[in-house]
Amino acid sequence: MPTLSPLHHRLLLLNLSLLLTTINGTTTTRRQFKEAPKFYNSPNCPSLNNFHHPSTCSNRALVHVSLTLDANYLRGSIATTLSVLQHSSCPENVFFHFITTTPSLSSNISKSFPYLHFNIYPFNNHTVSGLISTSIRSALDCPLNYARNYLANLLPPCVHTVVYLDSDLVLVDDIAKLAATPLGDQAVLAAPEYCNANFTSYFTPTFWSNPTLSLTFEGRNACYFNTGVMVIDLQRWRLGDYTSKIVEWMELQKRMRIYELGSLPPFLLVFAGKIAPVDHRWNQHGLGGDNYSGLCRDLHPGPVSLLHWSGKGKPWARLDANRPCPLDALWAPYDLLKMPFSLDS
Ligand SMILES: *[C@@H]1O[C@H](CO)[C@@H](O)[C@H](O)[C@H]1NC(C)=O
Ligand SMILES: *[C@@H]1O[C@H](CO)[C@@H](O)[C@H](O)[C@H]1NC(C)=O
Ligand SMILES: *[C@@H]1O[C@H](CO)[C@@H](O)[C@H](O)[C@H]1NC(C)=O
Ligand SMILES: *[C@@H]1O[C@H](CO)[C@@H](O)[C@H](O)[C@H]1NC(C)=O
Repeated sequence: MPTLSPLHHRLLLLNLSLLLTTINGTTTTRRQFKEAPKFYNSPNCPSLNNFHHPSTCSNRALVHVSLTLDANYLRGSIATTLSVLQHSSCPENVFFHFITTTPSLSSNISKSFPYLHFNIYPFNNHTVSGLISTSIRSALDCPLNYARNYLANLLPPCVHTVVYLDSDLVLVDDIAKLAATPLGDQAVLAAPEYCNANFTSYFTPTFWSNPTLSLTFEGRNACYFNTGVMVIDLQRWRLGDYTSKIVEWMELQKRMRIYELGSLPPFLLVFAGKIAPVDHRWNQHGLGGDNYSGLCRDLHPGPVSLLHWSGKGKPWARLDANRPCPLDALWAPYDLLKMPFSLDS
């Protein structure tokens, strides 16, 4: 860059600030996602052998991760992806499986992560149309929210284990540790369990007062778990046809209202009391709080490997509105959406 005289410099800054004002005042459509740096394996990572052009399949050295992608949450999905790579000691061994109703978003991923190993799986809204019953939170009624029910069908049969992640979270620890959670002889999935949560409240009085339905959890020691962070054994899932079991509960829900929330309760009905535990550090949930504008949450006591803004408020919305919660500052470093001409880039 040529050297500028102080006057030129000041004029340039003036022009820049005018541009920024115009953009702030009129439109945000010109904001673009930045490109993430390339992340490299540390020397002791398991070798991928002939992994030049990766097939998604059966390479034991790969950690498989699945997220959903839609235009509204793209900023969140990109932040989640960046956080996974940044804290992974073997980032080149992580393979991403993105499920989306908008396959063109694939180009946005390639642009931000030119070196990422990933596949895109189109998700057809019709898969769940007729199965979704209106929940008490309309954000939970989006078809893609139910994509996690179908991972075993969507991902290639050779993928044995996948870590499913919501798009409103960031990791601050190595995903390989989470992916290595032992599932024991039986469990189909692993997730942090919360046995102090009031399990009764996740189902309606109609459910509990029905003599047959109320026996569902008998002898299961059922505890609440959050479906935003799960390690899933897809082989066992396929063998047990758990997608059908979840869909059966969704069909029942259409006939009689047995729960109020979206995609979570069918998972509790099928799996609660039968899952493998994961340390709570892997889902510090609820950071979204109960309200968009108010009610900030604090961390739960104990160590933190993953921060999850579940709940109504999302960090990007609060940051944009200039009303962030204190913990939103922990999400911001993973945000790749920047104003054009931003001076820090
Ligand atoms: C995704 O990329 C396309 C093409 O570059 C761009 O037009 C679009 O605005 C991007 N979408 C989002 C949600 O940023
Ligand atoms: C699927 O549904 C979502 C949300 O309801 C919508 O935004 C999207 O455009 C739909 N996609 C298709 C292909 O119909
Ligand atoms: C649990 O929730 C149910 C239903 O919402 C309620 O009736 C019950 O009092 C709650 N139990 C405790 C211990 O809070
Ligand atoms: C959320 O916050 C708004 C504005 O502060 C308030 O009007 C509304 O009642 C709150 N809603 C809930 C569910 O707390």
